[in-house]
Amino acid sequence: MIYHVYLPSFRDADGDGVGDLAGVIEGLPYLHDVLGVDALWISPFFVSPWVDGGYDIADHTAIEPRFGDLATFDRLVGELHRRGMRLVIDYVPNHTSDQHPWFVESRSSRESPKRDWYIWADPRPDGGPPNNWVSEAGGSVWEWDERTGQFYLHSHLVEQPDLNWRNPAVRAAMMDVMRFWLDRGVDGFRIDVVHMLMKDPELRDNPPSPDTTPNPYDRQHPDFTTQLHIHDRRHPDLHTVLRELRALLDSYGDRVAIGELEVMPWKDWAAFYGRSLDELHLPMNFSLIETPWSAGEIATALSSLEEALPPGAWPVNNLGNHDRSRLATRYGEAGARTAAMLLLSARGTPILYYGDEIGMTDVDVPRELMRDGFARHEGGPSRDPNRTPLPWSPAPGAGFSSSPHARTWLPLAPDWPSRNIERQRHDPASMLSLYRRLLSLRRASPALRAGAMRLHPVQETGCVVYERTLDDERMLVALNPGQAHRTVPVGRVELMVSTRAERALTEQASAIELCPGEGVIGRVLA
Ligand code: GLC
Repeated sequence: MIYHVYLPSFRDADGDGVGDLAGVIEGLPYLHDVLGVDALWISPFFVSPWVDGGYDIADHTAIEPRFGDLATFDRLVGELHRRGMRLVIDYVPNHTSDQHPWFVESRSSRESPKRDWYIWADPRPDGGPPNNWVSEAGGSVWEWDERTGQFYLHSHLVEQPDLNWRNPAVRAAMMDVMRFWLDRGVDGFRIDVVHMLMKDPELRDNPPSPDTTPNPYDRQHPDFTTQLHIHDRRHPDLHTVLRELRALLDSYGDRVAIGELEVMPWKDWAAFYGRSLDELHLPMNFSLIETPWSAGEIATALSSLEEALPPGAWPVNNLGNHDRSRLATRYGEAGARTAAMLLLSARGTPILYYGDEIGMTDVDVPRELMRDGFARHEGGPSRDPNRTPLPWSPAPGAGFSSSPHARTWLPLAPDWPSRNIERQRHDPASMLSLYRRLLSLRRASPALRAGAMRLHPVQETGCVVYERTLDDERMLVALNPGQAHRTVPVGRVELMVSTRAERALTEQASAIELCPGEGVIGRVLA
C-alpha cells in the first residue's frame, strides 16, 4: 500500500505552519508501525514559486527551503529504507515554472539556444492565439510574450510553460533530473500528467465537445469541457518517450514508474503499459474516483479495468488525491468505509490519500485564505478544501505543528478536536481502526494482495461481490453501497472484517445479511 503524503499538510517539524520533510520522518512510526504502509508518495518539494502547489518547479534538483534540504531528504530515504519502506516522488515532466532558468533563457530572445525548449508559436493572421486550446484552470493555453512577439504554450497556469519534449536536449536534461533522484535512492516516480507530454505537432484546433457538462468529480474550470481534448495531449509519440524513461529506470534495478493519467477510453489507457509492458508499471486510472456510489457502477468500473488490462499487467487503485474532493465528502461516512474496504481488497496496488484514513472531509476555505493558483480565475476550481493539515491529536494546533500556535498554511478542519489520529487510534469503531484492520488482513492474506479477482453479477444480490483467490486461499468481499438491506449467499465463510464495528465476526453458514452501506470480507471455508 502506498500512502500519498501531501507534504505541506502532513506534519510540520520546524514550527512554521507548513509540513516538511523532517515532519515526514517524525510521522514514520505512525505510517510504519500503526498503519503498516509499504511506500510513500511525497508531493513536490522542489524549489518553486508555489503557484500550483509545487507543480511549478523552478529548480528540479534543489529543495524548497521551507520543506528542508538535501541532507534531510537523504535522512528520510535512510529512515524509510531501514524500515523496509520505499519512496516514490513526483516527477513533473510536462512543464516547469516560468521562473525556471531554462524558461527565463528561452523567453529572453528568439535566438536563445533554449528557445526551442518550450513551445513557442506565431499568432494567427488576425493576431489571435495559435489555436483554440483551453486549459483546465480556465482560459486559453497561450500567453503572448510582448518582447519576442510570440505566444508560449501553458497547459495549466500562465506561470507553467510546457516543455518541448520533441527537442532531444529537453529529453536529455529531464532524464538527468530522473538520474539525480535515482542516484539519491528514490524507488520510483509518480509522473505528473503523463498523457500530456506530446501534443499535435501541427497544433490543430480541438473540435467542440457535444457534451459540455462539467465533470462533477473533477475540479476543472467550466471552459475545459467545451472542447474535445484530442490535439492538446495524448499524441502517440509520447510512448517513445515513456520507453526511454522506463529503460532508464530499469537500468537502476527495482524502481517503479507510476503515471497520472486522466480517464480516457480504456484501450488508450492500457497502451500506457507499453506493448511489451515496457512503459509505465502502474498507469493510474480515475474511474473509481469518478464512479457514482452504486453497486452497478462500481462493479462496471472494476470489470472494465480487469478487461482492459494487458496480459501480465498489474493495476493501481486510488480513491482520493490532492486534486479531488475528499472521499468522505463524496460518499459520506458509511460510503467512505465501504470505499476503504474496496480500495484495500480489490486487485491492485492501493494508494491512500493522507487523512482519508481518519475520514477527513473537504474544508470550507474562505477565498482570502486560498492558496491554489487554479482558484485565481473567475469560476476556477480551488483544491484547497481537500489539502488541509492532518490532525494528529486533540492538543492545541491538532498536534500538526511543533509550534502549537503556529498559523497553519491552510486552516485546520473544524472537527479536528474529535477527528484526529490519536482519538481514532483508541476507538475500535473509528475509521482509522477499520483501516488498520483492513491493512493487517491484507498483509496476512496472499489472496488479497496478489490473488486473481472474480466478480459476481450484481443482479444476483444488488451488491458488489468478488472473490480473491490464490492457491487454496479464497477470500470473499461483499459491499452494499445501497440504502436497502441485502442478502448475499456465500456458502460457509468465516467473517474477518466488517465496516460496521458492531457486527459480531462469526462463521456464516449460507448467507450474509448486509446493512445499508455495509461491507464485509470473509475467508471461504472448504
Ligand atoms: C497534476 C497534479 C495537479 C497539478 C497539475 C499540473 O494533475 O496532480 O495538482 O495542478 O498536474 O501540474
